[in-house]
Amino acid sequence: MKVKVPERLESERLIIRPFVQDDLDGFYSFMSDEDAPKYILFSEDETTIDETPQSFLPPLSNYDGRDQIYALAVATKNENSFIGSVGIGPDFSGDKYQIYWNILPQFWGKGLATEAVIRFMDYLLREVGLGKLVAYSHPDNIASAKVAEKAGMQNQGTILIDGLDHEPLYFEVENDSE
Ligand SMILES: CC(C)(COP(=O)(O)OP(=O)(O)OC[C@H]1O[C@@H](n2cnc3c(N)ncnc32)[C@H](O)[C@@H]1OP(=O)(O)O)[C@@H](O)C(=O)NCCC(=O)NCCS
Repeated sequence: MKVKVPERLESERLIIRPFVQDDLDGFYSFMSDEDAPKYILFSEDETTIDETPQSFLPPLSNYDGRDQIYALAVATKNENSFIGSVGIGPDFSGDKYQIYWNILPQFWGKGLATEAVIRFMDYLLREVGLGKLVAYSHPDNIASAKVAEKAGMQNQGTILIDGLDHEPLYFEVENDSE
């Protein structure tokens, strides 16, 4: 099943919507930042503009495709300018959905990731009706773990995953309206 792509979700300060071409500079600036993507599982050639299109445009432009993974842009409500992204895809086991999030460094520490994740999760659990969502976070990525917890996900501790060189923290949240 593919999760329906929302046209526009709103929270107090943010909108969450499909990517548009104008978002890509901001997105590439995040991916080519020295520090920001260090806890995300990308190879080095995926973090430069020249190399990114093949690796990254599929999830960005995958709204009509059959793949279950897609990313949405997070933008400011006032200017509709790109500040980050949230996304969903099959989890490592393939039987659940995992979500993920990124915010451009200049916007960190204002509660924006938490706000975006709460709104995205609410859409997925209540509007789409998924039964469960999970998330993974590098054990050193304290900010990301806090976002998961502040958004209402339960920290289940570290988990062993084939092919990963570390044991990430594993978070999950159930749909309580079932
Ligand atoms: C993780 C990330 C999305 C957080 O974005 P953000 O908008 O700054 O997050 P929020 O402001 O909503 O919350 C961050 C929380 O972590 C805390 N925090 C941030 N860095 C921290 C650190 N080094 N040590 C302890 N706490 C930290 C903040 O104080 C805040 O908690 P608080 O509200 O209790 O004060 C952002 O840092 C990011 O994009 N990182 C790179 C991408 C990434 O790692 N994504 C997650 C993997 S999918």
